[in-house]
Amino acid sequence: MNTIKNITLVQFRNYSSGSFAFAEPITCITGPNGSGKTNLLDAVYYLCYTKSYFSSYQQNSVQKGMDGFRVQGTFDHKGYDEIIACKWKQGKKELSADGTEYEKLTDHIGRYAAVMIAPDDMELINDGSELRRKWVDSILSQTDREYLERLMRYQRVLLQRNAWLKLHYLNPPSNSPELEYYNSQLVGDGTYIYQKRLEFIDKFIPLLREYYKQLSSDKEQIQVAYESNLTEKPLAQWLEQSFQNDLRVQRTMRGIHRDDWTFILNDISLKSFGSQGQKKSFLFAMKLAQYTYLNNVQGHKPILLLDDIFEKLDQNRMEALLRIIRGDGFGQVILTDTHAGRVVEAFGGREGIGFIEL
Ligand SMILES: Nc1ncnc2c1ncn2[C@@H]1O[C@H](COP(=O)(O)OP(=O)(O)OP(=O)(O)O)[C@@H](O)[C@H]1O
Ligand SMILES: [Mg+2]
Repeated sequence: MNTIKNITLVQFRNYSSGSFAFAEPITCITGPNGSGKTNLLDAVYYLCYTKSYFSSYQQNSVQKGMDGFRVQGTFDHKGYDEIIACKWKQGKKELSADGTEYEKLTDHIGRYAAVMIAPDDMELINDGSELRRKWVDSILSQTDREYLERLMRYQRVLLQRNAWLKLHYLNPPSNSPELEYYNSQLVGDGTYIYQKRLEFIDKFIPLLREYYKQLSSDKEQIQVAYESNLTEKPLAQWLEQSFQNDLRVQRTMRGIHRDDWTFILNDISLKSFGSQGQKKSFLFAMKLAQYTYLNNVQGHKPILLLDDIFEKLDQNRMEALLRIIRGDGFGQVILTDTHAGRVVEAFGGREGIGFIEL
């Protein structure tokens, strides 16, 4: 099991400085709106993944008017304490474990896992395909180092190929070793990524179905359809066939960077036709399935971070969720709420709950 024991924040978001201890199995962070509950949760996420869950713009995590932050936490790593420290200063990030600095930040990815469930996550269902690709990529990148490396290279080469298309679209050379190189790289990495995404969704769907069933009293049939150009024909063929079109629009129109997943309930699209309640159940089921998938592959339970869930869930779903996360399959849970009383009531008492009051 992965757990975090304590955390110290310096110039992180609204915290000038602060130290907090986390309990097991449950810690509840309470305080009024704007007091820094979500930020504290995000700091835990930061130490696991060296980035914020909420903001891809790094500077946003630095306290306003300052030029850097530091976050440090003590984790339990297979029974031993390990201190992970992350420092960000003037655009440069440093990460260390027990005082030894990582050469590559990516070496840390997968060591500690966390799954966040936050109010805006409904975007995963309602918004465009980019968020869903990011979500799948974040899961596969922390369970498969080769996936992460190939994905980063694919994205780099894609930019290079697009730059080539921009440069040559009026007058393309009949023979370009550069373009051939880009194509062969994209084909190699793209095919690997496609294969892994296929395998992932196969393992993921049964978990998703199981949690959806537990969260919703309804009996809907759930399906997830993986849509990729590569299902139709290999990427090498696509790149050749759509070359003229790529030149015209000056970018690469086919490949795994266009993949998407459609969530289906009783044979119709959840995004277009699902009710709010169905979407909520589906979203929570997705996150719980993500949790169990990571646990199965990595062999240790992630930290579950629940932001403001009591605001969002009705009584039935709430009870089902609490039953699940207090079961054997789940480990440390850190959650936020404006009212301690509501949490105590939901959990049926204070036992086993540590409180951080902001
Ligand atoms: N980079 C930053 N520097 C200084 N303050 C910041 C920074 N980023 C966010 N804040 C402040 O942090 C506060 C919000 O903290 P947070 O979102 O964690 O609150 P919360 O307790 O989760 O509130 P709510 O109950 O409304 O969700 C706001 O007052 C915001 O202005
Ligand atoms: Mg909040």
